[in-house]
This record gives sequence, C-alpha cells and structure tokens, in this order.
Amino acid sequence: MAGTFDKMKVEFVDQDESVQVVADTIRSTGEVPERYVRHEIKADAVIVDAEGYNLPMIDMSRLLNPEFSEEEIAKLGSACEHWGFFQLVNHGVDGGLLQQVKADIAEFFSLPLEEKLAVAIAPNGMQGFGHHFVFSKEQKLDWVDLLFLATRPIEERNLAFWPTKPSTFRDTLDKYSLELANVSAQLFKFMANNLGVDQEALLGPFKGLPQSVRINYYPPCSQADKVLGLSPHTDGVGMTFLLHVNDVEGLQIRKDGNWFSVQALPGALVVNIGDILEILTNGKYQSIEHRAVINPDKERITIAAFHSAHLFCTIGPLQELLKAGKVHYRAIDGVEFTKGYFSAKLEGRRYLESLKLGI
Ligand code: OGA
Ligand code: NI
Repeated sequence: MAGTFDKMKVEFVDQDESVQVVADTIRSTGEVPERYVRHEIKADAVIVDAEGYNLPMIDMSRLLNPEFSEEEIAKLGSACEHWGFFQLVNHGVDGGLLQQVKADIAEFFSLPLEEKLAVAIAPNGMQGFGHHFVFSKEQKLDWVDLLFLATRPIEERNLAFWPTKPSTFRDTLDKYSLELANVSAQLFKFMANNLGVDQEALLGPFKGLPQSVRINYYPPCSQADKVLGLSPHTDGVGMTFLLHVNDVEGLQIRKDGNWFSVQALPGALVVNIGDILEILTNGKYQSIEHRAVINPDKERITIAAFHSAHLFCTIGPLQELLKAGKVHYRAIDGVEFTKGYFSAKLEGRRYLESLKLGI
C-alpha cells in the first residue's frame, strides 16, 4: 500500500552505499572518503558543560497533576520560547517497552547488510533504509545509515519498508508509535494552554496525529572531527521526540551562535519544537538548528519520532496570536510545505527562513 510519502515524488540521486560498511573499510585503510569530509566544521566552537547551559527538564507527571500543572506549564512555555528543546521525564511510556524498542533497533542494525537492504529506500523514494536527502553526485554525505518510516495514521504505513527481522520489530514500533502519539497530543494541549489559544486551534493541524520515525545509526569514525552524522537542520514538523537507543552522546543544538552538546538523561525523551510549531505560534516557539556529531570509538543509535501536521491544512500563524502584532510567516499549504522541506537540502534554518515575511 502506498501512502502520501510514496506519492510525494521528490527527485533524489541514488546513493546506495552503507556508511557502516564504509566505516568498517576505513578502519583498516585509514582515510575518510572525500564525500564525507566536512571542511566547514572546524571553525565552530562547541560548548560542553558550561554553566547556565542546561537543557530545561519538563516533568509530565507534574503537568498532569492539578497541584503543579500551572507552574510546569509555565516552565514548558519558557523552554519552547527560549530553547526550542527540553528533556521530558516521567513521560509515562512504559520502561519495558523502551527496552524492547532499543533492543529491536540495535538488532536490526547489527544484521548483515543484505538483510537490511530488504527494506532499502527505492529510487526517488522517501521511506526505507539508506541515504536520504541526496540531490547531487557532488553533495557531501552524512555519516549515518538511516531508516525512515511513516507510522501514523496507520493507513499511511507502507509495510514493504518495515523490517521483519527481528521478528518483534513491527509490533514494538507499532506500540511505541501509539504511546508517543498520545504523549504528543498531551503536550500540544499544554502548549495551547501556555499560548492562551483554543486547544482545537492548535490541535487542528495535527488531526489524526501524523507521525513518522527516523532511526539513525551513526557508525564510529576514528577521524570523527572530519565527518558529521547529521547536517545542521531544523525539523520540518510540529514536534520531535528523540530517544537514545544506546547511551552515546552526539546531539548538538545551536544556542546563542555556538553549538551546545546535549547530555540526555537516561530514559528521558529529548523533545524539540519543529518548523510548523514555530510558524503556528508566529515565532513565539523556536525551531532550533541542531546536528549530530560522531564518536571516534562507539556506534551511536537514536530514534526520532516526528509529529507533523496533516497535509490538507494551511500552515500559518494562528489567528488568535495575531491580535496584538505583526504576522511573521506566510501561510502555506501542507503538501507544498512538506514537498518544499524535503526538496530543500538540510541546511540549517534556510527553508524556514524562506517562509518568513519581510518586515
Ligand atoms: C533527527 C535528528 C539527532 C540525533 O533525526 O532529525 O535531529 O542525535 N537526530 O540523532
Ligand atoms: Ni532533527
């Protein structure tokens, strides 16, 4: 069954190389192939453990508790405005399920390449295992093998790209997908409360809770400072939940012009605001640029779950937020937005900035 993603038809260049295989090869011969060498990253300062640079922590159990809710909603709002990122703890997703998600994903990536290629991305396709966002033969490549899948609404799934090995993979992903969709719906409601807008107005574009997942496998690289796991980008969705499958760090976010390393708390979901929420909130909530760096010795695995607007809506600043001020973004049709996002290279905030109205 083909869903919306399969019909999107963005022109990509085929690139069927596995980075894991490249990483294994250069372990013996040494040199990182030029297509992966990122000369631009040297110049960037990175902040690790600096005072005042702690990702805000939001506690779902406090959001849900009438006694603490108001205080926690204010914290949530502040995190979305000033950081665009926070760690969600006590999110209610069962610990056993998280363990199973981690085990199944790790097992999939440990399979021989031929087995992973059973779900390989098709030419000009969007879903499946392999390199994504490749538009030219010259373009630099990210140091990641990834598996991208549409997960919700359920009729959008194309099971041809869902691994059957390990045998529990599909069932586990199905359960995880539902849990996160529910968490996203709860957070959207608390955000509406913080913004002072009608819940329906904010939740409307997210009707049916469209969701996709991107499972990232970053092989180690002995010359880790030459490569990038994921180019700087913003997420073209409402909000993203990132789960660390193993405990290796590598996520960095752009803060006050510097790159800041995120130290994920065990069991927490790292949540970030995407472009669509920035637009809906007329810029009040921020979609922050982020990237992934590579560890010299250890593989790193993450799963990002994207919660997006459905395609048949108009994405534009919410009317209720415009009473007092200027409109900062043009309204755009959902299909046009999604096609535009996937056709733009992962280049920081460039696509989002292109939707801004001149002042
Ligand atoms: C993503 C993403 C970061 C990471 O998949 O969009 O930003 O650390 N991932 O894997
Ligand atoms: Ni991202």
